[in-house]
Amino acid sequence: MTDDAPDADVRPDGGTEAAGADDVALDPWGSSTVSDYRKLFEEFGIEEFDEVLPEVPDPHYLMRRGVIFGHRDYRPVADAMRDDEPFAALSGFMPTGDPHIGHKLVFDEIIWHQEQGGDAHALIADLEAHSARGLTWDEIDEHARDYILSLLALGFDPDEGELYRQSDNRELQDLAFELGAEANFSELQAIYDFDGETDVSHMQSVVTQMADILYPQLDEPKPTVIPVGPDQDPHMRLARDLAARMRFFKVTEAFASFEADDAERVLLRRAYDARGEYAEDTDRPRCGEAADWLRAEADPSDARDSVAEKLDSAGKEPLRPRTRFLDRQATGEAFDALVEAVPGEKRVYDEHVDAFELDHAEADELAREVELDHGGYGFLPPSSIYHRFMTGLTGGKMSSSVPASHISLLDDPEDGYDKVKSATTGGRTTAEEQREKGGKADECPVYELYAYLLSGDDDEFAKEVYDECVGGERLCGGCKEQAAELMEEFLEEHQEKREEWAEKLDGIDIDLDSDRKRA
Ligand code: TRP
Ligand code: SF4
Repeated sequence: MTDDAPDADVRPDGGTEAAGADDVALDPWGSSTVSDYRKLFEEFGIEEFDEVLPEVPDPHYLMRRGVIFGHRDYRPVADAMRDDEPFAALSGFMPTGDPHIGHKLVFDEIIWHQEQGGDAHALIADLEAHSARGLTWDEIDEHARDYILSLLALGFDPDEGELYRQSDNRELQDLAFELGAEANFSELQAIYDFDGETDVSHMQSVVTQMADILYPQLDEPKPTVIPVGPDQDPHMRLARDLAARMRFFKVTEAFASFEADDAERVLLRRAYDARGEYAEDTDRPRCGEAADWLRAEADPSDARDSVAEKLDSAGKEPLRPRTRFLDRQATGEAFDALVEAVPGEKRVYDEHVDAFELDHAEADELAREVELDHGGYGFLPPSSIYHRFMTGLTGGKMSSSVPASHISLLDDPEDGYDKVKSATTGGRTTAEEQREKGGKADECPVYELYAYLLSGDDDEFAKEVYDECVGGERLCGGCKEQAAELMEEFLEEHQEKREEWAEKLDGIDIDLDSDRKRA
């Protein structure tokens, strides 16, 4: 192939927006395919990263370039970063093979949060690798070492941050045990498709991951981000749920002595706001009056009928907004202490306390204080950010079982060069056509290499490659040559740093020689 001729190879699907495929599977242990990232927003409630991007001080290039495309609740982390408050980042790696350029995204994300002042944690998910993937402890030890060396070579500071392996961390396992008491088999079955054949250790690795995710908050509750691929989202949803279930109190908004769900609460708020229209005494709108008003005014719905019924039974009780502390896991002592601590007018019931002079944020803070004073964890719901999966160099999925599809951080630099040179591209069939129509950078794994890795922090360079490609000025031969050289340099430099760290590995607080028996 001459230098400036585009590739003749036809690109199979596997681009970020492959046509036709409309299934989105988020399976932590299966093959996760995301054919349409928009579905993740619509179906799973992941939020678009662009929406918080303006609030992130000095965002990482992976954020600026949309490689990190989604998040759950990242705002508290961004706020903490900006206000110099404590925050943390944690991610985990299953040591099932060589670390590759997909893992580098996550290493970089952890390191960046560390540089921004966060407590950084990286863990080796060896219990998971052993139970869910069946690796032996010898294999695990070898891979664990490789992950740690690459993380260090990329800039993780082990004096400031924490490295651990799941099998070696007693505190983590104790937390996993406590969290396991809040989850049952039916729930794991529903989330992960577990069945009667699923082994118990695999389930234990799930609660261990839940503990990993909450581990940075063991000293004190703090906003924590978990950078992962979207395949891990089921874990995030469960972890956020468990974090809430561990809390002593749940703080909600209420309008009368009875409990309401979210949909009912919306209607209660409307009825309260409209009290001028129906209440005999607008200072004391009665529940019964509100029920009649809702039946006449609100659209028919299950929530309307159920809330009207509740309002009817409350009858003459006045409708009055308040902040409610529901007792979830509180000890009797903690509940009494909370009652004592609520300032101003309050009403105490068996399972809840209503406060009339506290807003939601103040109530939240008070609930957490009392919980911490009485030996609770006070967890904040953990946040997550999601990066796009890299397209394989051969088109389709990047897969560790297809060496040509990915670049391992341990690849011989020359092999790295060769793999890039033989990669599939988004180029046209002939050079003429490419000059005329431009290349399809958006569907090109080589362009991805530039955007995800080779351009580093240099946005201008990434943009130049893009613009030249789609403008028809850049042809694939030369483009791949440049990328291949950059990859070779990157691998050389990375591996030198790995060697430097290999010398110092003894000084690092992680045991890479597991004493577990063969199993
Ligand atoms: N399950 C993750 C994987 O398959 C590894 C992992 C374990 C992890 N614990 C974690 C990831 C905590 C993020 C946070 O790669
Ligand atoms: Fe070709 Fe480079 Fe454009 Fe990809 S980015 S299509 S390799 S010119």
